[in-house]
Amino acid sequence: MRTLSGIQPSGSLHLGNYFGMMKKMIEYQESGELFCFIANYHAMSSLSDGKALAQGTLEAAANFLALGMDPEKSIFWVQSDVPEVQEFTWVLSNFTPMGLLERCHSYKDKVARGIGANHGLFAYPVLMAADILMFQSEKVPVGKDQKQHVEVTRDIAIKFNNEYGDIFTLPEPVIDDEVATVPGLDGQKMSKSYGNTIDLFLEEKALRKQIMRIVTDATPVEDPKDPDKCNVFQIYRLFLDKEQQAQLRNRYQAGGLGYGEVKQELFETVRDFFAPFTERRNELLADKDGLRKTLAQGAEKARWAASKTLRKVRKKTGLVY
Ligand code: ADP
Ligand code: TRP
Repeated sequence: MRTLSGIQPSGSLHLGNYFGMMKKMIEYQESGELFCFIANYHAMSSLSDGKALAQGTLEAAANFLALGMDPEKSIFWVQSDVPEVQEFTWVLSNFTPMGLLERCHSYKDKVARGIGANHGLFAYPVLMAADILMFQSEKVPVGKDQKQHVEVTRDIAIKFNNEYGDIFTLPEPVIDDEVATVPGLDGQKMSKSYGNTIDLFLEEKALRKQIMRIVTDATPVEDPKDPDKCNVFQIYRLFLDKEQQAQLRNRYQAGGLGYGEVKQELFETVRDFFAPFTERRNELLADKDGLRKTLAQGAEKARWAASKTLRKVRKKTGLVY
């Protein structure tokens, strides 16, 4: 089974990124062939500060490696180190009806929020289709918000296959229902753009501050509370197994549990869970050349895999003459 996914290097990482995507990706290494990359071309649609993009790319690589990505077991690279994906995007653009892109929620949402639309933002799903199809990926683990982009990828692949024969594998999105959408501090989807995140790799004080900002209702301490309506519980449960979740549920329902107390417990849980990863991340970032070397080795493997698809595509479409 070949699994592929990418993550943008823009900004810091939050629990939504970790539970919605990275954790699963890291687990996939054990059960099949994993392709994983830092989507720095994609990040350009929302970031024009070159220094920040370069730094963000190294940090994103360090994050993944610290959290358990093993470059021996997987193919792990930076998107722009395999520039073939751009040629391939152009080819696929010619199999992408305008209407397909115009219907994309993530594009429409950004426009609705007043983010100026440029061609990069509009064509973003075509580049994503190129990422996926270039490596003949079968499974694409993503958060719910990216599901439509995988469907667009399938539509493009079908159009191409209809024209030239069965060239591309049709990918399936993989969405874990348990954590399909990790809620943020205010109960909406946790997202950098909503400013409602709990971030990874924070200093203790800053982490505690974020967790204390989780929105709760005004139920008095002594009253029973409904865990399903509590933002703290919805986040806390991600760190708990079934039995621990049931125990916490009982404490909510019994009354006498204050939100301050449960927030403090959540803070300690998050801090302790990520502490070893933070240490490893700092070590990786202290040796940037070592990090670049690891990424260059990953890119070499990815280019080799990409070239197989691209050779076929160039031949079929008449780019080889
Ligand atoms: P953000 O919304 O903060 O900008 P990204 O769009 O960079 O996050 O998301 C990176 C990856 O993490 C994607 O696969 C996305 O689906 C997943 N992801 C982001 N936020 C969440 C969330 N709240 N719940 C589940 N998955 C998420
Ligand atoms: N668009 C994805 C995101 O913002 C990142 C991404 C780029 C991706 N190319 C991909 C995810 C290919 C899966 C497959 O989260």
